[in-house]
Amino acid sequence: MATPAPHDEQARFDAVIAADEKIEPRDWMPEKYRRNLVRQISQHAHSEVVGQLPEGNWITRAPSLRRKAILLAKVQDEAGHGLYLYSAAETLGTSREEMLDDLLEGRAKYASIFNYPTLSWADVGAIGWLVDGAAIVNQISLCRTSYGPYARAMVRICKEESFHQRQGYEIMQTLAQGSPEQQAMAQDALDRWWWPTLMMFGPHDADSAHTQQSMQWKIKRQSNDELRQKFVDQTVEQAARIGLTIPDPELRWNEARGHYDFGEIDWDEFQRVLGGNGPCNRSRMRDRRRAHEDGAWVREAMLAHAEKHNRRAAGAAA
Ligand SMILES: [Fe+2]
Ligand SMILES: [Fe+2]
Repeated sequence: MATPAPHDEQARFDAVIAADEKIEPRDWMPEKYRRNLVRQISQHAHSEVVGQLPEGNWITRAPSLRRKAILLAKVQDEAGHGLYLYSAAETLGTSREEMLDDLLEGRAKYASIFNYPTLSWADVGAIGWLVDGAAIVNQISLCRTSYGPYARAMVRICKEESFHQRQGYEIMQTLAQGSPEQQAMAQDALDRWWWPTLMMFGPHDADSAHTQQSMQWKIKRQSNDELRQKFVDQTVEQAARIGLTIPDPELRWNEARGHYDFGEIDWDEFQRVLGGNGPCNRSRMRDRRRAHEDGAWVREAMLAHAEKHNRRAAGAAA
């Protein structure tokens, strides 16, 4: 059979996207679609992995055995999310080593939110409630993304993220019902994490470099501003229910829009942290590099084991 001409391939690709079906690893796809996906999925994978650091900081200091077991499980889940996502990106022809090199050498980005410090136990609550909460809003939408392996990874990740969100909210709820000091700790964590969480959705649609093309390709299914609004609407009510105040004097219900209006993000801060100058950018990368180096013997041992296994299998076959 003759190889189909590229325009047939393009037509097939366009038809699959138009029909809301999935593009799979062996399908032809435009090179820019592939590159865009590798960038987005690997960035997402790096965020899961680097995201373990701020919370890992509290595993040994969790206030009870129950809290420690829950946090440990949650942080392990994030490692698993990294694994699903690196695997999804590998189906596009990029190796995990390449992606990790890009991260460790500072060429790849990860979510800027993880460049903020976790100063108190309440920060673990705020991360679960707000950061994982924001991640879910984004990821629910990505369950319908056009690339099959990415969409399927998202379905699985979302199930775990909802557990993360609830464990965070439960920590905040407990603190908010506690002593005045505990209430103040919860409010302080909300005050510090609220705006960085809103920044997680990225620049306004009009200023977003990748949004338009990604929406056409159905890699992204909802815009940054739509997703941010959705998150604000659901979180305002959750804060009110536990008696915490969202640190935004401009926040109010807009009857005509059917949504909450909210204040403007400090985009200078957004750019500063994105540019590598947030409070913890350097220490996060230092810790990640050290973890990678510390894990070298595990990778070597696994390779040696696989080689031994292959040799034995070859010997048995001979
Ligand atoms: Fe995750
Ligand atoms: Fe999570």
